[in-house]
Amino acid sequence: MDDLGAALSGGSAVKMLGGGNPAHIPEVQALFRERMLQVMNDEPLFKRMLANYPAPAGEEYFRIALAGLLNREYGWDLSEKNIALTAGSQSSFFLLFNLFAGPMPDNTVDRKILLPLTPEYIGYADLGVEKGMLRSYQPEIELLDDHLFKYRVDFDALAEDNSGDLGAVCVSRPTNPTGNVLTDNEMDHLARFARARDIPLIVDNAYGAPFPGIIFSDITPVWDSETVLCLSLSKIGLPGVRTGIVVANEDVIDALTSMNAVLSLAVGSVGPVLAQSLVETGAIMQLSREVIRPYYETKAMQAVDWCREALEGVDFHIHKPEGALFLWLWFPGLPVSSEELYQRLKQRGVLVIAGQHFFPGLQQDWAHSRECIRVAYSQDDQVVREGIEIIGDELRRIWAEA
Ligand SMILES: Cc1ncc(COP(=O)(O)O)c(C=O)c1O
Repeated sequence: MDDLGAALSGGSAVKMLGGGNPAHIPEVQALFRERMLQVMNDEPLFKRMLANYPAPAGEEYFRIALAGLLNREYGWDLSEKNIALTAGSQSSFFLLFNLFAGPMPDNTVDRKILLPLTPEYIGYADLGVEKGMLRSYQPEIELLDDHLFKYRVDFDALAEDNSGDLGAVCVSRPTNPTGNVLTDNEMDHLARFARARDIPLIVDNAYGAPFPGIIFSDITPVWDSETVLCLSLSKIGLPGVRTGIVVANEDVIDALTSMNAVLSLAVGSVGPVLAQSLVETGAIMQLSREVIRPYYETKAMQAVDWCREALEGVDFHIHKPEGALFLWLWFPGLPVSSEELYQRLKQRGVLVIAGQHFFPGLQQDWAHSRECIRVAYSQDDQVVREGIEIIGDELRRIWAEA
């Protein structure tokens, strides 16, 4: 993280293919700049954004507008009482994991969060106030044409988990780091798995529909009272406003509201007031579908082509890019660990993330976890292309030395 932070803030020549910052898309930035000016010139909006405490569940007009949008788009039956805002999704997961898992009040069970499929989001790793909160599984690997592959949930392995100590199931969809999008079938299966154990299914939708819509496969967003759907304003281009959104049944929302009140009285209103009219009018959907998704999809496909060229002569697979900001590259039989590959690339001015960090909660050793890297393609094209060329060159050197 220190390396990533230094590269982002230092203005150095480092090719930053490591972080998860969304791209600075000119149309998106122009829109929010214009919206900011409107708010600054509108007395009631200005006061709501900056001069008043919002409710502990988060800025009310935004929550009403969002419930309306989700009902219109997906036919759900939500009100603002089904929505709580947090200080970013990362903090949503901190609150949710510690709400559903860890030692229970009667001390009889130490509940776990199940991650049905790793690789998974690195940010889940240290969320538990108590250690050992996560339990996760290896996926099945499906090899596809053209150097692509896809992870699938291993439901046979999951079915053997009869430990009775699960507090919730959690998946990111699209998945950071792989760009995997669990299929509707997989989601349905996970929902039944969770329902059978009377625990919630947490869906991390930081990149998904309806916004930011960085999702390239056709899937159906789902929500019911046993699902906890987490969204964020970060990946539409507003990571600085730190706005996370949780859509859940009223009991869960009440609990999060109390936690917000204790932690910070209320979370900030800059993001919600800035985005409210876009949510109310549905313009945020248009922005996601017509600007954000095509922007990232083009970049993803381009980056895949550059990988295919640059990795000529190397044994490699790319996880099928179905969303998010990353390519996940797998080098079977890599002679060095992905950590060493990361260090060697860093020496050559390219920052990626070593794959082994993305297996939170996995108990068994798995060589595959040391054969992968995550490459962000959200930076400028030239940076991404040159970075990928150096990755290819370094891998050929490694194989030549082996
Ligand atoms: C899958 C996933 N979930 C959650 C987050 C946290 O997002 P934020 O706290 O900016 O809303 C990220 C950030 O990169 C992410 O990739």
